[in-house]
Amino acid sequence: MGNGKGKQPLKNKKDNSSPILNKDSKSNLKWDPLRNIADDPDEVLRKTDERLDNLEKEYFNDEKDKSDNIGNIFGLHGLTRRDFIKWTSLVTSALMLPYIFKPRVARAANILTRTPFIWLEMSDCMGNTEAFLRTAHPTPAEIILSYVSVNYMESIMAPAGYQAEARMVETVKKYKGKYILVVEGAIPMGLDGKYLTIGAKGKSGLKITQEVSKNAGVIIAAGNCASYGGIPAANPNPTSAVGLSSVTDRKVINIPACPVNAVNLVGTLIEYVLIGKPPQLDSIGRPLWAYSERLHDTCYRRAHFEAGEYVKNWGDDGAKKQYCLYMMGCKGPFTWNNCTVVEYNQDLSFPMRAGHGCIGCSQPKFWDRMTPFEEPNESAKITLPMVEATADEFGAALFGAAGAGIAAHAIYTGVKKKREKKKISKNEKNNSEKDKSKDDKK
Ligand code: SF4
Ligand code: F3S
Repeated sequence: MGNGKGKQPLKNKKDNSSPILNKDSKSNLKWDPLRNIADDPDEVLRKTDERLDNLEKEYFNDEKDKSDNIGNIFGLHGLTRRDFIKWTSLVTSALMLPYIFKPRVARAANILTRTPFIWLEMSDCMGNTEAFLRTAHPTPAEIILSYVSVNYMESIMAPAGYQAEARMVETVKKYKGKYILVVEGAIPMGLDGKYLTIGAKGKSGLKITQEVSKNAGVIIAAGNCASYGGIPAANPNPTSAVGLSSVTDRKVINIPACPVNAVNLVGTLIEYVLIGKPPQLDSIGRPLWAYSERLHDTCYRRAHFEAGEYVKNWGDDGAKKQYCLYMMGCKGPFTWNNCTVVEYNQDLSFPMRAGHGCIGCSQPKFWDRMTPFEEPNESAKITLPMVEATADEFGAALFGAAGAGIAAHAIYTGVKKKREKKKISKNEKNNSEKDKSKDDKK
């Protein structure tokens, strides 16, 4: 192993917009077509339709090809057109778009399956790929992901070695500024990137991501490892692994979680197809439509938190009644994501519904900052902007109602304990008086 330091992440990053973005900015796109729709809805719809018309002309042979495409794809998986329409409603609402966008979301999903696509695998467990490609009953989002026009994806493509590399080079050249780049996994910087070499020529993951990022239309970091380094970057980070945004000066959209939620990934891609530029992002690069809410604020167990009803041991009565998992280390109060709303596996479940607390898998450095995962939160040292305190102190001091929930629980427990103590000492007193009178009689 080397000194583990490697190259330093890029500084003074600037957003080199893609040619597609430049095209839009040339046409004086002053508004964000999706978010400021109330300002000029007709103009927003006109611009979006114009973009979709152009993309359809580019990616479909004729009207029949266009109209049969998504039906054929869904049909192969036993899903009907109605299932697709239902799914477009879900994505439209998840993207926080007005209902009028629903048919446009459907068109964008159709276009997405033909948009050139490169998926790079870096330092990781491939859990994101596994999560949507290997499911027995794929969701519509997963089906669309598995039908995108994958020009390069090591885990599924037929060509190997030099042929595979040639395909990637060709895609970068042929679809300059148009292809979607998704990166899964962290990028090791140590030994000048040599902890990870890929392909027949043994190029480093660092070099490949930097080269392929340059001409991509949009760049997405899928999962926590690609977004922030994830588990490969956890202490002591022997390979000096970092997230994608640290190795490129292009704008990166982070879709963290472990694994990434297919709805969030496809939703972001659909928004890109609709407007031709990245969505509005939060300060750590995540789309606001998916990551602006704290899990704790939308969790179905929240009422139990407020009522001071907690699971205190795995499998206890509280666990059976689906009480709040805060005392079992749930990191929902410190995690921003929409798992509680869109859920995983055909909108079926997510960690808290399955009975385990959130481990904060969509936050940077969650493996270092959020551990231990299954012990009361006071053991975890959680650092938030302007706040450095244990989770319990933070909750009690700043969460208001949430803090009140903990306080209510503490007061209730305290009062109960006092009552029990009083009862015990009263019983003890009665018993000793009885014993005393027995002794007197003797
Ligand atoms: Fe839900 Fe966890 Fe918050 Fe409890 S602490 S309400 S389980 S997010
Ligand atoms: Fe991850 Fe927490 Fe959601 S562990 S999947 S962010 S509930």
